[in-house]
Amino acid sequence: MRFLITAGPTREPIDPVRYLSNRSSGKMGYAIAAAAIEAGHDVILISGPVCLDPPSEAELTFVTTADQMFDAVHRHVKNCDILVMCAAVADYKPALASKDKIKKQNANLSIELSPTRDILSSFPPEHREFFVVGFAAETTDLHKNAQKKLRAKNCDAIVANDVGSPNSGMESDENEVTIFFPDGQIQEISRTSKKNVARELVKIFAKMCEKRLTKKM
Ligand code: C5P
Repeated sequence: MRFLITAGPTREPIDPVRYLSNRSSGKMGYAIAAAAIEAGHDVILISGPVCLDPPSEAELTFVTTADQMFDAVHRHVKNCDILVMCAAVADYKPALASKDKIKKQNANLSIELSPTRDILSSFPPEHREFFVVGFAAETTDLHKNAQKKLRAKNCDAIVANDVGSPNSGMESDENEVTIFFPDGQIQEISRTSKKNVARELVKIFAKMCEKRLTKKM
């Protein structure tokens, strides 16, 4: 199988030296890439800025902004069997990035934000030959919000984790996730290393693809 995996945060420039970003370390996405390779799959890894060594057998594309990630995913996804959108893509970007460094003033400063293009939602189910897996990092109502996202973004599965607790998935070496499917099925992976979570996820994703192939035959 050919996996397209995104990982890490994006950075949305405010001016030449400042940006909006988030706490994503990229560890989960990189672990999924390594697990997929370990299981014998081909992997394209599209990564935001992280401090991690990429798996040596992955085909790599590095991006900085949500727009660049959108373009990179669209460039590569056609040749893939599954898109795993693990990246914490910024939902908003400064409407206008200043060309020059913004000077400090003794007053409040407002920055207008505009929504980024949603990558997951840009693949209508009737026009795609590949599976789409989204991730949902939630601080409240994990089940309700994840299921809403699954439907709104037309995903074939969504992997949700609670990032509200201090011991959450973000930046940590461990994670626990719940996977939601459109038919209402739910699967849990209890707290373990991201390496183990990734191995389990790759098995689940491979099974999804096999099922579809079997149906087509
Ligand atoms: O809506 P929210 O950002 O919480 O959704 C998270 C999921 O959506 C993740 O899989 C993330 O990679 C994806 N996403 C996206 N395009 C964006 C923002 C998030 O595909 N612009």
